[in-house]
Amino acid sequence: MDLLADQFIQFNPQRGTMEGAKVVERRLSDLRGYFVDEAAYEAALAQEDSLVYTVSSVMPAEGESQLHYGLGMIMPGRIGAEYYLTKGHFHAWRPAAELYIGLRGEGVMLLEDEATGESKLVPLIPNSAVYVPGFTAHRTINTGKVPLTYLGVYPAQAGHDYGLIAERNFRKVVLAVDGKPTLRDRVL
Ligand code: PA5
Ligand code: MN
Repeated sequence: MDLLADQFIQFNPQRGTMEGAKVVERRLSDLRGYFVDEAAYEAALAQEDSLVYTVSSVMPAEGESQLHYGLGMIMPGRIGAEYYLTKGHFHAWRPAAELYIGLRGEGVMLLEDEATGESKLVPLIPNSAVYVPGFTAHRTINTGKVPLTYLGVYPAQAGHDYGLIAERNFRKVVLAVDGKPTLRDRVL
């Protein structure tokens, strides 16, 4: 094991890049069904299959005492009134919590408690941390005008469970209303 490479990684919060990390790109075409305004989604996709977000992940070691982390970057943009967002997920190992740290831009995290269905909107901005408890679906949303970048740190065994959200989505949506991020019921 290359100790230095595993223990020291530099990232660029402006560009949303991290040296040596595995990068996943999500484009509009990867997000069919995630935005509430389907007509606006199809119209935007017909124009261009724009990049919506990237996640650069680092998995230094496996095991129950270990941590993984990722640098996320969400581009600024909207589909209709809804801001660019991540798919959102539960952790496959439901009790696993996660710590998000805002690096650049202005955003929010939409949290949804699995047992109660209760939603919370939490700011994600530079020099701040958001604690995502276990058993909570989480989605990150760029409500600003520049790329939103953040770090997420989670137990190595957390895993990502996208299934439930892909099927039924979050109960709430975050829309620009009079230019401000506003939490609304999802109306289909
Ligand atoms: O692990 C996390 O919670 C983050 O790094 C997310 O993976 C990242 O925000 C992208 O979101 P999603 O995994 O829902 O596509
Ligand atoms: Mn997560």
